[in-house]
Amino acid sequence: MEFNQPAGKNLFDTARVVGKPLHRVDGPLKVTGTAPYAYERHDVVAKQLYGYPVGSAISHGRILSMETEAARAAPGVRAVVTTLDIEPLGIWNYNVARLFGGDKVEHYHQAIAVVVADTFEQARAAAALIKTEYEEGDPADFDLDAAFERVQGSGEPGTLVGDVEGAFRSAAAVVDQMYRTPSQSHMMMEQHAAIVDWSDGGEMTVWTSNQMIEWNRQSLATNFDIDPDTIRVESPYVGGGFGGKLWLRADEVLAAIGSRAAKAPVKLALPRPFMMNNTTHRSATVQRIRLAANADGKLTGIWHEVASHSLPGGRGENATAQTPFFYAAPNRRVQHHIIEMSLPEASDMRAPGEASGLMALEVAMDEMAEALEMDPVEFRIVNDTKVNPSDPDQPFSERHFVECLKRGAEAFGWQDRNRTPAGKREGQWLIGHGMAGAYRGAPTLNSGARVRLSGGKLVVETDMTDIGTGSYTILAQTAAEVMGLTVEDVEMRLGNSAYPVSSGSGGQFGAASSTAGVYAACLALREKIAEQLKVEDPEFRDGRVIAGDTDTALADLEGEIVAEDTMTFGDFKKGYKLATFGAHFVEVAVHRGSGEIRVRRMVAVADSGRILNPITARSQVIGGMTMGVGAALSEEMALDTGRGMFANHDLAGYEVAVHADIPEQEVIFLDTVDEISSPLKAKGVGELGLCGVAAAVANAVYNATGVRVRDYPVTLDKMI
Ligand code: MOS
Repeated sequence: MEFNQPAGKNLFDTARVVGKPLHRVDGPLKVTGTAPYAYERHDVVAKQLYGYPVGSAISHGRILSMETEAARAAPGVRAVVTTLDIEPLGIWNYNVARLFGGDKVEHYHQAIAVVVADTFEQARAAAALIKTEYEEGDPADFDLDAAFERVQGSGEPGTLVGDVEGAFRSAAAVVDQMYRTPSQSHMMMEQHAAIVDWSDGGEMTVWTSNQMIEWNRQSLATNFDIDPDTIRVESPYVGGGFGGKLWLRADEVLAAIGSRAAKAPVKLALPRPFMMNNTTHRSATVQRIRLAANADGKLTGIWHEVASHSLPGGRGENATAQTPFFYAAPNRRVQHHIIEMSLPEASDMRAPGEASGLMALEVAMDEMAEALEMDPVEFRIVNDTKVNPSDPDQPFSERHFVECLKRGAEAFGWQDRNRTPAGKREGQWLIGHGMAGAYRGAPTLNSGARVRLSGGKLVVETDMTDIGTGSYTILAQTAAEVMGLTVEDVEMRLGNSAYPVSSGSGGQFGAASSTAGVYAACLALREKIAEQLKVEDPEFRDGRVIAGDTDTALADLEGEIVAEDTMTFGDFKKGYKLATFGAHFVEVAVHRGSGEIRVRRMVAVADSGRILNPITARSQVIGGMTMGVGAALSEEMALDTGRGMFANHDLAGYEVAVHADIPEQEVIFLDTVDEISSPLKAKGVGELGLCGVAAAVANAVYNATGVRVRDYPVTLDKMI
């Protein structure tokens, strides 16, 4: 069915199950370690061989030769395939890195061989015996700052509205600063891993860890130039993705090639260092932000210019993503330059664009508030807008940003904040308070599901994934709601290409889209049941179908009733700008002697439409806040500019925030409804939770110390 008009009043307004704080339906499997993850599918695949990858030791150039005799003769080895043995694979859709094949090297740790052996240790040992001769390309340029200098002001801006230069000439206050965010790695707990059975070179079965089942199938088909219908993909549990598992990566490709060569199922997990240099990451950004305001605190001009890096044809990190839409200002110029670099493919990471864009924009907003001698909360309220400022004919479907700011300020006690930078001390600690606004788009994608009712129990099948986000639970809630059942009556089956194609998990479109798909399938099932009982508009509640004098238990219906549908989203949505909003408030303490920075308190407010489950939604937001603390204070992929590789390629060198770094976190949901977004009036929250957090931390550090850091991460050496 098509969602082709505002949702209007519907059954979710009086929901019994949707919106309730239910614990994860897959929780018991998770905490008992019995949820089957990709690398552990002993339950379904017998006699697995082990694959181990070999990565390029240079960042760009050509492979002249590879010596594999020693590896082939090593104990337990069943197959060795090098990149010189096969033609370059195809490239699907948004991906730009060629995952295997041919002699060309585009980035360090590009996969150049796979070794298959009886045991993991044998495969790894044999892989070390392969000798490769390279011809390195000319010295590469990794200087993003210099590149920004070169391209600044050139080319066509993505957004150009009004008279920007005029606004700056007549401004009462101007901010003009450079900000830098480093490259970041997803560093999900579960590595990229897959078991592939392509033993006979015919049908391919893939057990993997991926956010997007159908994209995965389509990219495998394109890579190997085979019919997608010969590929089956399963990914029922994913140990974290953050955008790193949106796309097909080398784990599946190498396992497939290894399986075909060894004529047996092959499992392969990318070693942790490969996650940084072989897969994808969030590109570093260099950002110049210019803000112009008049004396009463209204922004008159916003000028945001960004450079990020990518392999040729890639998308980099568009840190300007929010700038055309977030704050009112009649004049704006927004531009993203993509700089080609011989680095691993830069691609999506949680809130791609906004996450790093707001790290800069929300600090610039803090600087402007200070220049105007305004409360930063008040400054943002003054610059709120109800229409898309780059297209005044387009209203926001819903926008409760001001309420986010007010609720957050009250919950945090913003009134009692430290008002003078470096003005508040507790012993050896300087105490600071900071805040930031948050913005993230709220897209939806078409999403399908199939439902089977039998004996009063409902089975829901969709290729939607659960990347730790709670899909199993909110989809079970949706189905239970529509069918008048309890979640205990619903069995969820996810992450399998045998099921209808869903939105998948990404871009924070998963929750709103996939619940709409399950809703559509359940409505189709209700129609079938009504037909069977020959009743009109029955009510479904307490496991019964009720219409006039008819009152039938679902458990008493004959046989299995199956229905399937896909929710598509109609053009009427294009008349609106859909986004989610938030506000973050943070207290930090900075040690006067060492510069050590501790986050002490965090409050987040989220305006994300209907909250489908406050427990799983809260987990999304506190996860985002935690990631934001990492982005603010420690996360940085350290680039070795000599070798063109990220040097700190493990969890010891790449520091994510851990429990000891995270204080009290409070999350407030406005729990608004958005009639334009989806039938459930829901929007995503998982990416919003990260947006703005790092800037709130950086602003609090400034407030504590009087030291303004514009180069992330904000580390203690920069306090001096
Ligand atoms: Mo998200 S970066 O689209 O998984």
